[in-house]
Amino acid sequence: MRPFSQRSASANVCFENRTYSVARGVFHPAAHLSGVLFATHLADREWANRRVVEVGTGCGLLAGVLADRGASVVATDVSTAAARCAAANLADTSVEVRQGDLLDPIAGEYFDVLVANPPYEIGRALRPRYRSPDYLERLAAQWPSVADELVLAFPTDSAEVLDHVGFDLTHVATLSSTGRDLGVFHAKAS
Ligand SMILES: C[S@@+](CC[C@H](N)C(=O)[O-])C[C@H]1O[C@@H](n2cnc3c(N)ncnc32)[C@H](O)[C@@H]1O
Repeated sequence: MRPFSQRSASANVCFENRTYSVARGVFHPAAHLSGVLFATHLADREWANRRVVEVGTGCGLLAGVLADRGASVVATDVSTAAARCAAANLADTSVEVRQGDLLDPIAGEYFDVLVANPPYEIGRALRPRYRSPDYLERLAAQWPSVADELVLAFPTDSAEVLDHVGFDLTHVATLSSTGRDLGVFHAKAS
């Protein structure tokens, strides 16, 4: 795994050569390690010259990793705090950060890849600020209209939810942490 660190008294996450400040109210990518695990997985793929949209960018970690590998990235989040936080963290990159619900900020655009680490908390209380009950259903129905390929992270112990909401996905990797295992799922638009 690539180096990262999280100090309990700090809201910073360091990944590779960048420090991401995590503002109050913004999802912390080291929570369940999901953001940093997914970032580590994405970092091992080829991204040069690919046009990518990251939906739900939080502090911008995944978008930063993709942009550092040569992707052209639009990063979105419904949360104003997250969009501001990501924009500040990625100010020295080419990432374009937009605030808005799901695919609204990219209406009329088309990408090679849509990347998402969705809000989820199956069987546990989810902090209201991260909850978006119909996010998965809408993403399952709408993503093929905006991208050729989908790369999704989701806890493996709850992955059956993805079938139930209508995704047709291939499970390509399992990323282990001290908490829940994180699955990486792919789909190609037909
Ligand atoms: C699990 S966090 C992932 C954050 C970041 N990508 C990471 O991996 O650390 C999910 C993100 O999705 C955002 N989100 C929730 N509902 C959304 C929606 N309807 N449209 C866009 N983003 C949404 C949340 O604000 C949060 O930042």
